[in-house]
Amino acid sequence: MPDITVVALCGSPRRGGNTELMTDAFLEGAQSEGAVVEKFFLDEMDIRPIGPVGDVFEEREDVRADDDARMVLERMAAADIVVYASPVYWQGVSAQLKCLIDRQSAYYMAPWLREGMKGCGIFVITAYGAPTEDQSHWVIEPVKFWARNFGAKYLGEIAVNAAKLGQVAQMPGVLDEAREKGAAAVREMCGGR
Ligand SMILES: Cc1cc2nc3c(=O)[nH]c(=O)nc-3n(C[C@H](O)[C@H](O)[C@H](O)COP(=O)(O)O)c2cc1C
Repeated sequence: MPDITVVALCGSPRRGGNTELMTDAFLEGAQSEGAVVEKFFLDEMDIRPIGPVGDVFEEREDVRADDDARMVLERMAAADIVVYASPVYWQGVSAQLKCLIDRQSAYYMAPWLREGMKGCGIFVITAYGAPTEDQSHWVIEPVKFWARNFGAKYLGEIAVNAAKLGQVAQMPGVLDEAREKGAAAVREMCGGR
């Protein structure tokens, strides 16, 4: 059986931040089950907002195809599991991740994207700083919607209330949970093939 591949889209600009630490732990867990993993730290890549697109999906072109967006989207579409990792930023995903998501619209009907994402496993990792209420739904719900749109399989999430840099590393059990969920996601996708 070919290896399960996992692509993580890390949308926080903070190296060593909560999102990246949980993503790394998730990927460690996935590797422990034999998966081949790849992490894209989007803030350090050249991914611009989408440019103008035409109204006819099939005729659309990516007028900014000279940056890194298409390469990341192709890696994502080729993966068995895609991890959408983003802090909650102003009641949504970070701009770094949103730019990449929007760029899909230039390839909306492309078979490599549609067929690649169909049946793929999707997982969410998010951190939010507000102490008063759970803000994680601002990241989780859009990703669930995107998963349905692609006919992908929503595998679950890790959502943690943490504001300070690297705080999740001091919170008992969080990184262990991320490792366990990474391993479990790979086992689930293996069973489904
Ligand atoms: C630009 C910006 C917007 C934010 N917006 C929210 C928000 O809407 N709700 C919330 O609970 N926390 C918000 N936060 C707090 C972050 O979600 C929180 O600090 C998180 O741990 C950052 O993740 P990171 O360490 O991976 O960068 C915001 C932080 C920044 C810098």
